[in-house]
Amino acid sequence: MEETLTKTNTIIEEIVTGMKSTPKQLPSKYFYDEKGSQLFDEITRLEEYYPTRTERKILESNLEDMADKLGANVELIEPGSGSSEKTRILLDRMDSIKCYVPIDISGDYLFKVADQLREEYPNIDIEPLATDYTRPFELPDTHPDARRIVFFPGSTIGNFKLNTVQRFFSVIADIVGKKGGVLIGVDLKKDIEILEAAYNDSKGITAAFNKNLLIHLNRKIGADFNPDLFEHKALWVEERGRIEMRLYAKTTHQVKIDDHTFTVEKGEYIHTENSHKYTLEEFSGIVSPWFDVQQVWTDTNKLFSVQYLVPRI
Ligand code: AVJ
Repeated sequence: MEETLTKTNTIIEEIVTGMKSTPKQLPSKYFYDEKGSQLFDEITRLEEYYPTRTERKILESNLEDMADKLGANVELIEPGSGSSEKTRILLDRMDSIKCYVPIDISGDYLFKVADQLREEYPNIDIEPLATDYTRPFELPDTHPDARRIVFFPGSTIGNFKLNTVQRFFSVIADIVGKKGGVLIGVDLKKDIEILEAAYNDSKGITAAFNKNLLIHLNRKIGADFNPDLFEHKALWVEERGRIEMRLYAKTTHQVKIDDHTFTVEKGEYIHTENSHKYTLEEFSGIVSPWFDVQQVWTDTNKLFSVQYLVPRI
């Protein structure tokens, strides 16, 4: 109970800080309650949302080549594994994988998925780890001779700001050691029309996903956001190389959070998510303090990439 209270207070502080900023912002990690995860699942099947489908196809078309790169005796580590859906593509067809370490911050779901995986893959040692992977962590030492490969699909890396990306790669470099590697999905820069359509779909699923953040926060911390007073819009911000998801206020109104009251002006927006896109050159530059890009696989339209990184030293 006490722990729950402290936790709620920390979340309130975080939200209040965001609402005091200019422009106002809310953390994207609160998108994913049950409804949000379900909406994201729908997003991945939308005509306009190319990343999930394209990445899956890249993985499926290059499995043998990827298995060659990964080598024998692999311990596959996946930060933010969720339902481990894409990982099954690898687990199904790479018999070099001896151990799988799914990592997620919420333990309940993680351990449920792990039990399921143990049944499906009796020959792979499934070792779930409940932790916040953006901070330094330690792996179980059950396979000391295995080659550690971090799998980070979905262009989740695109949600991180530059300093978080850098912290992530420095943590990962420590984890995989000098004989390991990283298999990562990175969304690429492309025509603005394609990018903006992917985040402003015609069925309004992304709009519902964006507004669900407000509904989730209402329930979680007793805020009183009215989602009907906001309009979803995602736009490409060239200077920052990213799609920004925003919620624009349709009228001037007030939002209460704990004992704070915030005025949201008509036309003002709350910034809810970043989705950075990179050129191959930009991305190899960012990882270069820790990793070399050894191989890049893309689709024919160069929409998305899966990259294999190896430690520099
Ligand atoms: C799961 C974070 C990669 O940025 O494309 C999809 C999330 N947001 N549509 C992305 C998202 C709106 C997605 N990531």
